[in-house]
Amino acid sequence: MSEFDLVIRNADIATASDRMRCDIGVADGRIAALGVGLGPGAREIDAEGKLVLPGGIDSHCHIDQPSSDGVVTADDFYSGTVSAAFGGTTTVIPFAAQMKGDSLRDVVAAYHDAAGPKAVIDYAFHLILTDPTPEAMGQELPALIEDGVTSLKVYMTYDALKIDDRQMLTVLSEARRLGAMTMVHAENHDVIGWLTDKLLEGGLRAPKYHAVAHARIAESEAASRAIQLARLMDAPMLIVHVSAEEAASAIKDAQVKGLKIYGETCPQYLFLTADDLDRDGMDGAKFCCSPPPRDVAGQEAIWRGLKNGTFQVFSSDHAPYKFDETAKLKYGPASPFTKIANGVPGLELRLPLLFSEGVGKGRIDIHEFVALTATNAAKLYGLFPRKGTIAVGADADFVIWDTDRDVTVTYDMLHDAVGYTPYEGRRLKGWPETVFSRGRAVVENGVLNAERGSGAFLPCDRPEPARPTGDLQPEMDPARNWGFTPH
Ligand code: URP
Ligand code: ZN
Ligand code: ZN
Repeated sequence: MSEFDLVIRNADIATASDRMRCDIGVADGRIAALGVGLGPGAREIDAEGKLVLPGGIDSHCHIDQPSSDGVVTADDFYSGTVSAAFGGTTTVIPFAAQMKGDSLRDVVAAYHDAAGPKAVIDYAFHLILTDPTPEAMGQELPALIEDGVTSLKVYMTYDALKIDDRQMLTVLSEARRLGAMTMVHAENHDVIGWLTDKLLEGGLRAPKYHAVAHARIAESEAASRAIQLARLMDAPMLIVHVSAEEAASAIKDAQVKGLKIYGETCPQYLFLTADDLDRDGMDGAKFCCSPPPRDVAGQEAIWRGLKNGTFQVFSSDHAPYKFDETAKLKYGPASPFTKIANGVPGLELRLPLLFSEGVGKGRIDIHEFVALTATNAAKLYGLFPRKGTIAVGADADFVIWDTDRDVTVTYDMLHDAVGYTPYEGRRLKGWPETVFSRGRAVVENGVLNAERGSGAFLPCDRPEPARPTGDLQPEMDPARNWGFTPH
């Protein structure tokens, strides 16, 4: 008689804080026991010599999301989640994106309809909020937070998406009151617009000029401004997809002051540079994303930020646009850089890239790897301890890694629908071998073993850092009784 549905024997387990060598007993999709010499399982796997890590959480990815220009991402919730699973990720948190004028409730309902029948691993949603009307903020947002969508992203750039500083204050004030996490795409719209005008006036249209227009100072100015607004409101904030040293230092300075400011970075800022946007012909378009990749010195600054705690989250910002007339080249083979859909794919390679080049080369340790790729996202977005760790009671989402496997990346081996990878030809060491989602071996021996729609929606709790500190700026102190009550 089996005691467990599954037992992983002799696992070398690493979490964000611990290392233990023991068995993992799984029952009903959860970790039921951790210990030496556990009783029998209906299925048993000997993981001797193998590292077992929590399944990754990719908390920044765009799946089945139309861009403001009407281009839809190449991946739907099937190909996107299959690709994630093959890369060792067992939870994704993509965006339910509001376009101006949309009802937030309708938007979230539409993403549920898109994800429910197709996802093969578990998923939650962040909102993208572009239209903070009184109805959206006062009625729809509170209801959605109750339903488990407890984080929202706002943009400081892109004509169709951006909110202004006054709207940002409204969003932060409501987020603080409701206990939500605000994520910010920080780039100064006018700096980018001014530089873009000058470049185009000079006839400079090639993809490489995207990286010139999206200057590092545009990023750091916007990040610093957003941080000050968060400080005024005593609201937590996470600056997403940080690309460069300047914005990273603004985040670090705020953290040193004790503010609840968090940072996220992505593979493109460690492994690509602006030179990639200058590849032959239009090939540079494959590497156009915002903010853009920088230079080698900038990559080193991002590595330092991963090590010194500036960044809590390492996500993919998977924004998969095909390199053809349906997406990247929608405006023709000679599109100016302003017309190239922004974004790069990265769901499947996020973990192998960071494992190989981070852990394998001694830049971060295995606990930092787990924290950056899984645990911190679970904590920041209200999924911990169900997700993001290996502990009794947690969902049985874990990955057996082959740390010795040498892999040369080619697009053929990947499972997304994008048609290219920015990391073609890169040599990596270490690969997620067997991937478990709620105790199911969803990827094993290179084969998918999960039904469409078998992933579940995860309602998120209010994130822990979203609790106000009470450390209000004097202007905001309700005791002053100015007829203004901050929430
Ligand atoms: O270029 C990017 N990052 N595209 C995806 C959308 C976003 O702003 O994250
Ligand atoms: Zn963004
Ligand atoms: Zn993004």
